[in-house]
Amino acid sequence: MPSPHDRIDTTTAHSARVYDYILGGKDHYLVDVEAGDAMCRHWPALPVHMRENRRFMHRAGRYLAQERGIRQFLDIGTGLPTAPNLHEVAQEAAAHAHVVYVDNDPIVLAHARALLQSSPEGATAYVDADMHDPDAILDSPQFRELIDLGRPVGLMIIGILHFILPPDDRRLVRRLLDPLPSGSYLAMTIGTADFAPEEVGRVSQEYAEQGMPMALRDLPTASSFFDGMDLVEPGVVQVHRWRPGPEQSGIDDRAIAMYGAVARKL
Ligand SMILES: C[S@@+](CC[C@H](N)C(=O)[O-])C[C@H]1O[C@@H](n2cnc3c(N)ncnc32)[C@H](O)[C@@H]1O
Repeated sequence: MPSPHDRIDTTTAHSARVYDYILGGKDHYLVDVEAGDAMCRHWPALPVHMRENRRFMHRAGRYLAQERGIRQFLDIGTGLPTAPNLHEVAQEAAAHAHVVYVDNDPIVLAHARALLQSSPEGATAYVDADMHDPDAILDSPQFRELIDLGRPVGLMIIGILHFILPPDDRRLVRRLLDPLPSGSYLAMTIGTADFAPEEVGRVSQEYAEQGMPMALRDLPTASSFFDGMDLVEPGVVQVHRWRPGPEQSGIDDRAIAMYGAVARKL
């Protein structure tokens, strides 16, 4: 049986590994280090921006688990395991919470064991699939076994939408939301060049040159993904401004190129 390692391309940079490198992880290769260093030369705030994206995931996941009673999550574009992972956040609120993780990068698959260390009362699963094929996610045995569509679900699309280009982006998000019952939530972060257009434009160019074209969205476009849903306060804001804690104090808006929001499905 082929191992996920056979699919890992160590000659070109990959988004999950560049993210891991910049966040101080250890699961990346020389190409990712070189790409990450080039991006940081273009925009030295990149590590702050990436860290705050990750922290938004923590706060949004905690909010949904603790304050909205969400007990099952579908996490698209999970990334390499980095503590705390979503199931650790959710199971801290409720040990029996279920989390289904999805990523299309073989290196994430190779490290998925760390995502499967669920509490004994709860459950986690990993689906090796692409967001461009939502039916493969929704029809997977992992999703069917762990997610009860009679109860609300937290759909997390964090740090990935900038890799999902128009015109398919809206349809793909909708397709993932469609089967989820009313009272489910969408938590999403959306890349933008609104606050540091030149620097973020250069980083975007670098990603494109490394084979990872990206879409950056202004506030009206970012907000339109939540049309027809009930936005949780404070709405669509830069990620460090969404229900900030003490860690977010003093962060310069120009260091954050990501909108974030949480909304309830009606
Ligand atoms: C920047 S990381 C974000 C990780 C995590 N969600 C977070 O915010 O900390 C983006 C992840 O999305 C994954 N990804 C990118 N395009 C994807 C696609 N079309 N389908 C599934 N995963 C994808 C990458 O492999 C990577 O692990």
